[in-house]
Amino acid sequence: MNREYSLEHHWLPFTANRAYHELPRLITAAKGIYLFEESGRPLLDGCSGLFCVPAGHGREEIATAISRQVRQLDFSPPFQFAHPEGFKLAEAISQLTPPGLDKIFFTNSGSESVETALKMALAYHRARGESTRYRFVGRELAYHGVNFGGLSVGGMIRNREAFGPLLPGTLHLRHTKSPTKRFLPGQPAEGDDLADDLQRAIDLHGAASIAAVIVEPIVGSVGIIVPPRGYLQRLHRIASQHGILLIFDEVITGFGRTGQPFAAQTFDVVPDIITMAKALTNGTLPMGAVAASRKIFDSITAAAAPGTIEFFHGYTYSGHPVAAVAALATLNIFEQEDLFQKAAMLAAPFQEMVFALQDIPVVTDIRGFGLLAGIDLAIDEKPGQRGFAVLKTLFQAGLLVRVTNDTVILAPPFVASIDDLTLMLKRLRSVLAGL
Ligand SMILES: Cc1ncc(COP(=O)(O)O)c(C=O)c1O
Repeated sequence: MNREYSLEHHWLPFTANRAYHELPRLITAAKGIYLFEESGRPLLDGCSGLFCVPAGHGREEIATAISRQVRQLDFSPPFQFAHPEGFKLAEAISQLTPPGLDKIFFTNSGSESVETALKMALAYHRARGESTRYRFVGRELAYHGVNFGGLSVGGMIRNREAFGPLLPGTLHLRHTKSPTKRFLPGQPAEGDDLADDLQRAIDLHGAASIAAVIVEPIVGSVGIIVPPRGYLQRLHRIASQHGILLIFDEVITGFGRTGQPFAAQTFDVVPDIITMAKALTNGTLPMGAVAASRKIFDSITAAAAPGTIEFFHGYTYSGHPVAAVAALATLNIFEQEDLFQKAAMLAAPFQEMVFALQDIPVVTDIRGFGLLAGIDLAIDEKPGQRGFAVLKTLFQAGLLVRVTNDTVILAPPFVASIDDLTLMLKRLRSVLAGL
């Protein structure tokens, strides 16, 4: 039996707090591709934690690096000071990002990476004498974290509705989820013209008012929406023709999820800024980063008087030394075990297994790419009701997934074997088929 913990003082994030005790979901240990309840019952990790543990749980190399660093240098102030691990990590990340996107700024989360990227865009235009560019363009159904900038460019109604007008002047492209074409594996052949929404925004508001457009190359948290073929290229073309910065939010797609280090490489589009976070420390410590192009760094720094701070932004824990060694150890594991290549090789069998679920009556659509898949379920009485019920039933069946509304999201760890994936899909099938 698991112990019961009181919610008297603990306020759980993005959780139905009042319903938690109906089925407490308490996790006390993790190893490999399993999480464990206090009773020792294993739960297969179908979503790499929350997209952040691709190398599997409990990696000794990371634990050792963390413990050594706490003893060596537990903290050093990041403003006007630096430490060696930060330099090493920035260098290591810049080896993975597309050429030219090699100035790395550290944060502590995906949300902070998004805020940082948006502020870089504003600072860049201002430094070049274009401070009229204040608008951001996001997209419907996007998730860019929970801080005010990210909420503003995000496109999830429940995340936004309680929080007022948000950033003024923000515009949204239409999403690319097709209402009619369902069960399409990989990139849809049609829909790249939806990128022209950016041109419409320019025609209506003037390019001179737009600082940046931000998209997730593959929409993650809303349920895996894969970009139509040519869409990202078209968006890139329009943005660069009009001096608008393109930001790829790769908090989920970064570090191998699509089989390459970043989706920018998978889809062959080099944006101006990439945000990243999840997977950087294999989930062990909070850390995020933003990769910016040279031209952004150079413009912002050149505009400030010599010897003065150029970018008035940063966090107390930016590039924290302990998180930095956790990240270095993680990147080392990715390289030593060739995990991005492993993810690329698992993608086809994984997608095949997922798309085989389409015969289940309650499944209304499936989308997927790389080691990401979204499975839509028919809405029950109210949106989200069936999804929450499925989450709980899957938990009881020993499978941990992410559910947004009525969409089940799978994002298995890269260290999973074909047998592990088969077991994952078997458990999912038996629950969904029983609905
Ligand atoms: C694309 C994207 N951006 C930003 C975030 C926010 O990251 P965090 O929860 O670390 O703040 C997420 C989290 O899921 C995400 O998927």
